[in-house]
Amino acid sequence: MKLTLLGATGSIGRSTIDVILQHREQFSVYALVGHQNAEKMRQLAESVRPELVVMTRPDAVLKLKGTLPSGVRLEAGMDAAIAAASESSVDMVLAAMVGLAGLPAALAAVRAGKRVGLANKECLVSAGRIFMQEAKEHGATVVPVDSEHAAVHQALCGHDHDSVTKIILTASGGPFRKRNPETLCDVTPEEAIAHPNWEMGAKISVDSATMMNKALELIEAKWLFDMPPEKLSAIIHPQSIVHAMVEYRDGSVLAQLAEPDMRSPIAYAMQSIPRLASGIPWLDLVKTGTLEFQKVDEKHFPAMRLVQDVMRGEDSLAIAFNAANEIANQAFRNRKIGFMKIVESVELILSRVENHPVETVADVWSHDREVRRLTEEVIIKC
Ligand SMILES: NC(=O)c1ccc[n+]([C@@H]2O[C@H](COP(=O)([O-])OP(=O)(O)OC[C@H]3O[C@@H](n4cnc5c(N)ncnc54)[C@H](OP(=O)(O)O)[C@@H]3O)[C@@H](O)[C@H]2O)c1
Repeated sequence: MKLTLLGATGSIGRSTIDVILQHREQFSVYALVGHQNAEKMRQLAESVRPELVVMTRPDAVLKLKGTLPSGVRLEAGMDAAIAAASESSVDMVLAAMVGLAGLPAALAAVRAGKRVGLANKECLVSAGRIFMQEAKEHGATVVPVDSEHAAVHQALCGHDHDSVTKIILTASGGPFRKRNPETLCDVTPEEAIAHPNWEMGAKISVDSATMMNKALELIEAKWLFDMPPEKLSAIIHPQSIVHAMVEYRDGSVLAQLAEPDMRSPIAYAMQSIPRLASGIPWLDLVKTGTLEFQKVDEKHFPAMRLVQDVMRGEDSLAIAFNAANEIANQAFRNRKIGFMKIVESVELILSRVENHPVETVADVWSHDREVRRLTEEVIIKC
């Protein structure tokens, strides 16, 4: 199987390469696609020996010139990433760029009918209807890479869709689960990024701390599994061992358990039958000890209150939810706003946008751009 890795230089990209290197006889890499981390890309290209390296930022390409192993082609820009995602010899595309910036290349993979391992949840939040429709039209298979959605996928396998009464995603609660919200005003980006159970990129780590991540995942689940909002829920599970559960009409609940390590859902997305060894530690439940589950406190995590209306609303609300969060999350990481202002900004933006369907990709982009502009304005006034 030949792969293109979008977001190869990120946390998911690197875990995917770890799985590929364990199964060199089965997998080869057509293209590694990064954005600006030239040094990381040089190291990855050395170990993977792809046919092509793409950096979406042209200045990163200048840094890489002359440093790649011989025979590896080097290209620049998002158009080159799109071409790498739709290249005819590629069987599977791992979509792991961060943010809605990843949509054009992930959509290109879907339109080329590929197997798409989807980590980039922002694509589904903002363009889920279009993305899943295009996948159907072009015969693409969208397999979740998010650990919770990979767990749901496994618990749904071989079962009747209409017999599902509830999908329950678990959430660790992030680094501030036990903190009094009133003490969160002064937390630093470093504290927010230090996740207790998962090693992830900076944006998703902050999303986990605000629980925007779980909110985005509920919208992601709605599109991936074609489930109405009333069947989608989340609970806190601090140990991150049970990744999700599916409840059926007969009262059975199927759960998927594993050590928190993204190589497991990545390996499942790459090949589910027969399963691939992923290299994650074996789960020892006796050593793990007690598994706890708690209700999500929406006062502590207001993102989980906001998402209820967003899930029930039209596409424009989900686009606004994602775009405002991307801008506010970045502003927090750049120390322009405090931690609590992230979700406050998203709430303010939601109160200002109209609720309407969005039918085309061009309209997704224009709505997204407008919300980003509005959020920048709101943040300047913070
Ligand atoms: N990490 C996890 O455990 C995890 C779990 C579930 C889902 N996800 C999802 O997977 C995606 C990636 O997460 P991550 O943790 O791997 O993030 P990350 O470590 O920050 O990596 C992000 C990747 O996207 C690239 N990138 C950044 N900005 C870009 C842009 N404007 N255009 C094109 N590429 C760009 C980066 O390139 P450079 O580094 O070269 O700049 C990097 O390759 C996110 O959507 C996240 O929500 C992650």
